[in-house]
Amino acid sequence: MYHEINHPFLKHKLTALRDKKTEHKEFRELANEITMLICYEALKNIEVEDCPIETPMAPMIGKKMKNDIVVVPILRAGVGMLDGILTLVPNARVGFVGIYRDHDTKKPVEYYSKLPEGVINPIVFIIDPMLATGGSVVATIDLLKKKGFNNIVLVSIISAPEGIKTVEKAHPDVEIYTGNVDEYLDENKYIIPGLGDAGDRLFGTK
Ligand code: PRP
Ligand code: URA
Repeated sequence: MYHEINHPFLKHKLTALRDKKTEHKEFRELANEITMLICYEALKNIEVEDCPIETPMAPMIGKKMKNDIVVVPILRAGVGMLDGILTLVPNARVGFVGIYRDHDTKKPVEYYSKLPEGVINPIVFIIDPMLATGGSVVATIDLLKKKGFNNIVLVSIISAPEGIKTVEKAHPDVEIYTGNVDEYLDENKYIIPGLGDAGDRLFGTK
């Protein structure tokens, strides 16, 4: 199931991110701010358990998170969202999956993975700014499930309807949180209106 975050402040930030006049420094800052806003919403389904504490005034039963969190940015553009989610969940562990979309075939090519070991029953947050065809995300979820990670949430900044459908079909158990569902993919499988190439804009490579 997917959840598009309909918050006016988020849409305001997204507009600045999309604007072609926005250069890499501001683009990076906005990507992290937007990630925080989406992740705040995506964290609303975490489980908590009772946690007795004493405030300076009285004993009380508070709440603490039950599960560890593992964040998995898809290299390279997912790294542009990492600071944002770690600001909210500073004790999260981080794994990396390296996948790029081949320019000709548009299919995902996996080149790296390093995931935390020995974490009991974690919730994995995959972060990637663009969900286009969905190929990169499906390949990442396949890899994570093979390694035993089964509780997975996807956080994307902008998604195409095609990508959402593909992920939902391949992995109906994965919840998708996104800042916006855009219109369509063009003939090069870029999201329209989108924001262009997220990796290049984040890292100033083009
Ligand atoms: C972008 C983006 C996603 C992927 C989305 O990465 O960050 O990972 O494309 O496309 P898909 O849904 O059709 O698979 P890209 O391949 O450009 O690599 P980069 O992050 O190294 O720039
Ligand atoms: N990857 C991007 O960076 N942008 C798109 O629109 C599609 C894939």
